[in-house]
Amino acid sequence: MRIGIDAMALAVPRGYLELADLAEARGVAAGKFVEGLGVRRMAVAAAHEDPVALAANAARRLFARSGRSPSEIGLCVVGTETAVDHSKPIAAYLHGLLGLPERCRVFEAKHACFGGTAGLLGAVDWIAAGALAGSSPRVALVVCTDVARYGIGTPGEPTQGAGAVAMIVSAEPRLVALDLGRSGSFARDVHDFWRPLDRKEALVDGHYSVACYLDALAGAFGAWREPAPSTELARTCYHVPYGKMAKKAHRHRCAIEGREAEADASFEREVAPSLVLPSLVGNVYTGSLYLALASLLDGEARILEGERIGLFSYGSGCTAEFFSGVVVAGAARTVEELALAAPLADRARLTVAEYEAIRRADEAADRAPVGTLVPPGAALAQTISYLGVEDGKRIYSN
Ligand code: CAA
Repeated sequence: MRIGIDAMALAVPRGYLELADLAEARGVAAGKFVEGLGVRRMAVAAAHEDPVALAANAARRLFARSGRSPSEIGLCVVGTETAVDHSKPIAAYLHGLLGLPERCRVFEAKHACFGGTAGLLGAVDWIAAGALAGSSPRVALVVCTDVARYGIGTPGEPTQGAGAVAMIVSAEPRLVALDLGRSGSFARDVHDFWRPLDRKEALVDGHYSVACYLDALAGAFGAWREPAPSTELARTCYHVPYGKMAKKAHRHRCAIEGREAEADASFEREVAPSLVLPSLVGNVYTGSLYLALASLLDGEARILEGERIGLFSYGSGCTAEFFSGVVVAGAARTVEELALAAPLADRARLTVAEYEAIRRADEAADRAPVGTLVPPGAALAQTISYLGVEDGKRIYSN
């Protein structure tokens, strides 16, 4: 049985900040953010580009480019750590905005940046358990969506970002067939990164979070490797809060494999292609690993067809999973049809003052009346936007 990722699509906010501009405004050498952290640009979500709107726009693009239709969806899971409601899941909003069938399991998954992976692995189990038996072709929709926010002027500020990655999971995957039953898990109760209920911005113990990530990688990779230590991985995508973290991860893993000496050379070959899109968008939390996968496929699907790749997902708090899959024959043609990177082409560079104004407006956005959020000229006809609140309910354009 083959199960895996059939198609993918991205959505990013229209505005982005050059990290060199942010460095200048904060009195820091640009090299610290651009080379030191490995991020060139970070996406900045305006109030109307909330996690629901980003998720819906990614999923709508997925249907438009993949040939799949909302009527085929039997399971819809949204992974997020920036939910818009303590009770109503983003998946329920998507159900309405996308016109998904009533015969559909719909829910949201949270575990920091791991929520999307929880959704993906849950969807694989759902298919493997026989959910498709006897039904018309039905597939799963998994959407990772987040707006990553740290305090202005904090060390985390240059590692923000925003965006959504939508994926179809099916028994006829056109991109990556996952290695079923081969996965390494890790969990530990740590306080590395968290967001108390009354805050929009995350709190983080930055350097400790890096150590927790690396411990989790060692645990999850070790568990994945145990049954067949000689399994070769042509490429590996790591969770990417910022590009340098993936480099640290790869070095750590090479040390475990006893190939420290070739860590930096193999990073260029095995990891760097997955960091092109993340370096232009920043941290998208639950979607970060899948943005890295999109980057890898966008750049190298043709040479990777038939090759095995590794995937490492980390969620602070913490839990992690190392898993793997094979890029399927024909993936390059599917990637071309999906035009994965196209949403990044139509963006507008923000000044630091504009970014700070967006952050201030964002503070009140969850209570803003309908009609006060969408700036004049925003392309409402083409994108789904958060419009504000009416009778205590969030309203979206469609
Ligand atoms: N030119 C080039 N490089 C420079 C430089 C310059 N002028 N100045 C500094 N650098 C380098 C440093 O040497 C350092 O590189 P190494 O890590 O290789 O040593 C790098 O730039 C960063 O410098 P600092 O460590 O001094 O930076 P910092 O202390 O200000 O903050 C951080 C770094 C802790 C990662 C901070 O950005 C942060 O807290 N980020 C949020 C937390 C995070 O992303 N954690 C990752 C693991 S947890 C996770 O993955 C979940 C998640 O998504 C959040």
